Amino acid sequence: MMDTRLSLALEAGHVSLPEAGEIVVLGAAGQSLAGLPRERLLVVCDDVVAARSYEAQGYAVRTELPDAAAGAVVMVPRGRLEGRVLFAHAARLTGGAIVVDGVKTDGIDSHYKELRKRGACSAAYSKAHGKIFSCTVAPDALADWRDAGAGGENLEGFFTVPGVFSADKADEGSRLLRAVLPEKLGKEVADLGAGWGYLAQSILEREAVETLHLVEASHAALGCAKRNIGDERAQFHWADATCWQPRASLDSVVMNPPFHTGRKGVPALGQAFIVAAAAALKGVGHLYMVANRHLPYEEVLRANFAFVEELEGGNSRFKLFHAAKPPRKR
Ligand SMILES: C[S@@+](CC[C@H](N)C(=O)[O-])C[C@H]1O[C@@H](n2cnc3c(N)ncnc32)[C@H](O)[C@@H]1O
Repeated sequence: MMDTRLSLALEAGHVSLPEAGEIVVLGAAGQSLAGLPRERLLVVCDDVVAARSYEAQGYAVRTELPDAAAGAVVMVPRGRLEGRVLFAHAARLTGGAIVVDGVKTDGIDSHYKELRKRGACSAAYSKAHGKIFSCTVAPDALADWRDAGAGGENLEGFFTVPGVFSADKADEGSRLLRAVLPEKLGKEVADLGAGWGYLAQSILEREAVETLHLVEASHAALGCAKRNIGDERAQFHWADATCWQPRASLDSVVMNPPFHTGRKGVPALGQAFIVAAAAALKGVGHLYMVANRHLPYEEVLRANFAFVEELEGGNSRFKLFHAAKPPRKR
């Protein structure tokens, strides 16, 4: 078993969990849960890739919060607001006792300071560029943080919640892509990594589109998209776009692919989206995508499509691509 900050802190008694009853884990995005009692854990997981991985390891996983729990462990996510929302849920579920684990780059120090103002926190155990501590707060002492997590309308009038990509307003790259999408996208279309539905809404303005698949890994983002896209041609998939395949091959794929896992830049993720798009398209299908200019996508595009062009309409930060004819299908 690999030692983690969590497993070491539990073993040494720096933090403790109730002896009986269900322990809810919030915010886990693939981290090791070693040291926690597997048979008593419920992992509430937003990301489908992490969820499937925890399931494969034998953990009980779901996307919705339970009504109550004996204990809770919050694995601090990247976003400050998102973290606060998880603390508030954890406090309400357990009646106030939570264990908080996170790394410095995700703001664990400022969370620790804030939580100490709201309740009683143990001394923090520091290890591996992070901290872990226990905190006892009244169940409703963080209700204002929980309310902030309910979400609301962003600048474009779309419903979003804290933590989803570009929650406050549409991403600049997505705006540029939206502006160059052609009128004709065909009948069967997919938006890979659809987020809260900004590109999807624009795609569905085209009457000829018969089906739009919104494929998204974040359950919260997909939930927002469901609220934002009230169109029966839309089909929503909580799925890993790099593995997802449509039943019938597609006429077009539109995407602003992710290139991060947490804070780590992972161009291979965007490259895997390109491969998946090529596999999902008909031999005469088209891909429209935007990418940050520094990302190395050209080679993968050329390896997977016979025709690749950079479209006008990009800028110094973003490039726009149109690719067509996945070769192995011609
Ligand atoms: C750059 S954002 C684009 C979101 C949206 N299309 C837009 O334009 O606002 C990339 C999206 O891909 C999602 N994502 C990340 N990894 C994914 C995966 N393996 N499968 C599906 N979606 C994924 C992220 O949650 C995020 O919503």
